[in-house]
Amino acid sequence: MLDIAGKWVLLTGASRGVGRQVAGALADKGCHLILHSRNREHTADLVAEFQARGLTVHTLEAEFSDQEQVIALGKEALRISGGIDILYNNAAIMAPFHEDIFITEAGEYALSFQVNTVAPITLCNLVLPGMMQRKFGRVVNLTSGIKDQPQLMAYAASKAALDKYVYDMAPHLKDTGVTMNLLDPGWLRTDLGGPQAPNAVESVLPGALVPVLLEDGSSGKFFAAQDYA
Ligand SMILES: NC(=O)c1ccc[n+]([C@@H]2O[C@H](COP(=O)([O-])OP(=O)(O)OC[C@H]3O[C@@H](n4cnc5c(N)ncnc54)[C@H](OP(=O)(O)O)[C@@H]3O)[C@@H](O)[C@H]2O)c1
Repeated sequence: MLDIAGKWVLLTGASRGVGRQVAGALADKGCHLILHSRNREHTADLVAEFQARGLTVHTLEAEFSDQEQVIALGKEALRISGGIDILYNNAAIMAPFHEDIFITEAGEYALSFQVNTVAPITLCNLVLPGMMQRKFGRVVNLTSGIKDQPQLMAYAASKAALDKYVYDMAPHLKDTGVTMNLLDPGWLRTDLGGPQAPNAVESVLPGALVPVLLEDGSSGKFFAAQDYA
């Protein structure tokens, strides 16, 4: 399995849920971490814990509904690191649940697409050229197994659009040393997943790291974390 000690990671949504689990797992691997949330205070305890272990860790803030903040986040992460090796696009928002499946508001699509699709793609587009130049990179984009739930269509469609980006980019990454894949964490008890979810958040590991540690060079794959739980 790939040794990622000393690799620079930009992890979005590191403060809670899946992101917090992934932050711990990447810290255990000895990565240099850039942890994103909307407010540095949300990741302050992680910083204290990781720095006490001698790890390099930075925190950055960005609200993804504001595209300028997304771009600034990517550029600042590149400035700090000198080149991102691993981009873990985890942050996302859930859309309102509509019992009446015919009333999703246009604004709900716009917000879901900005936060869940445009923001992660923007970060990909900022880091991928440098990765390809250095012939190394791992990008993981968090998707969802959600289907047959038109009550949550703004969320579901935003994830489907992110999937499309990953599938259509895959041929362009062939033989570059850079991979980009999708991870479905499974339905988990987090703020986003809700208390009725069948799986504990801890069950996202070890599967969440599989697309990071893979050495076969393939892109455009869909990984389900629960397959490894
Ligand atoms: N949980 C599930 O059942 C489930 C199922 C399938 C897919 N997923 C996917 O897994 C990923 C993680 O989900 P989760 O359940 O861990 O979510 P979560 O517990 O709600 O955590 C969301 C994270 O994203 C950040 N975030 C929220 N709104 C944001 C915004 N507007 N701009 C920037 N950052 C924002 C939060 O940072 P702050 O600290 O600043 O709030 C937090 O770190 C998401 O991509 C989600 O779609 C989850």
